[in-house]
Amino acid sequence: MTHKIRIQSSGHEFTANEKETVLAAALRHGVTLAYSCRNGDCGTCKGKLISGKIDYGRYEAKAMSDEERGAGAALFCQAVPLSDLVIDAREISAAEGIPIRIMPCRVMKLDRLAHDVMQLSLKLAEGQRLQFLAGQYIDILLSGNQRRSFSLATAPHADELLHLHIRHVPGGLFSGQVFTTMKERDLLRFQGPLGTFFLREDSDRPVILVAGGTGFAPIKSILEHAFATGIKRTMHLYWGVRAQRDLYLHNLPQAWAREHAHFHNTLVLSEPLSEDDWSGRRGWVHEAVIADHPDLSRHEVYASGPPPMIEALKKAVIAHGLPNDRLYYDSFEHAHTSGT
Ligand code: FES
Repeated sequence: MTHKIRIQSSGHEFTANEKETVLAAALRHGVTLAYSCRNGDCGTCKGKLISGKIDYGRYEAKAMSDEERGAGAALFCQAVPLSDLVIDAREISAAEGIPIRIMPCRVMKLDRLAHDVMQLSLKLAEGQRLQFLAGQYIDILLSGNQRRSFSLATAPHADELLHLHIRHVPGGLFSGQVFTTMKERDLLRFQGPLGTFFLREDSDRPVILVAGGTGFAPIKSILEHAFATGIKRTMHLYWGVRAQRDLYLHNLPQAWAREHAHFHNTLVLSEPLSEDDWSGRRGWVHEAVIADHPDLSRHEVYASGPPPMIEALKKAVIAHGLPNDRLYYDSFEHAHTSGT
């Protein structure tokens, strides 16, 4: 049995199959709603149920509170229609028309970037290209219906090889493979591009980008895209890691700062080791952002990294004047992981 779903603000209509979530049905019909984790963890897909009945599915309290649900909110990556629906949801027109495909690819190179970070370089079959927006991610498809999500670290204009930054998680299903048995020429399959984390280009507001660990990957893609397309908005990258040995490719943002007067770069170490001899910024990355920008009312903030960093940053930037709708984030939740 199918159900009809109408988005009130745009009038867009589509149908959902039995047990299909609102988000999956929308994407299947080429309607892109805001989303990130697809797992009920991040809250990006939150919208309003205007009329109709849904099964709310499984989700984390931090993604949607009981009060929000009581006031009509729903997480559309989890919500399954039980009747025809009218909803209010954020639609992302920039991602519309970009097909989400399943594609084979070959591992061309494995480069150890840091003690626990590997760069995987993937090549598509001859003549194939992946259309994507800088900042989006792909799902690597594994046996047993398992999948692991990784942001693309390359910008769309430089797509001869697709780069992923994979952090080694001990016992991790895919990252374990990457750090032990994977070899050049191995074949993989992925689905993508996914997510709605990308630079909103219809704005000239100053941009703050915040990366935690391998959250640098989508930020790198966004910045390389912005430099290549001549975007001249003021952009300030804050990249937080624990100690010096966790930094990788950090000569890149340093070079960007020399080349582009509108780009600034701040590295922040939360637990530098004594042998690091670190004279740069220390502490949590969100604290560095707030110390430098106590009034964020004119900014846009783009953040990518582990959930604790995203949660701390969200609270801090909203408390310092950033409007909710100018915070874009990619939280490495269970389904959208930095590597397990
Ligand atoms: Fe729905 Fe994250 S909670 S996309």
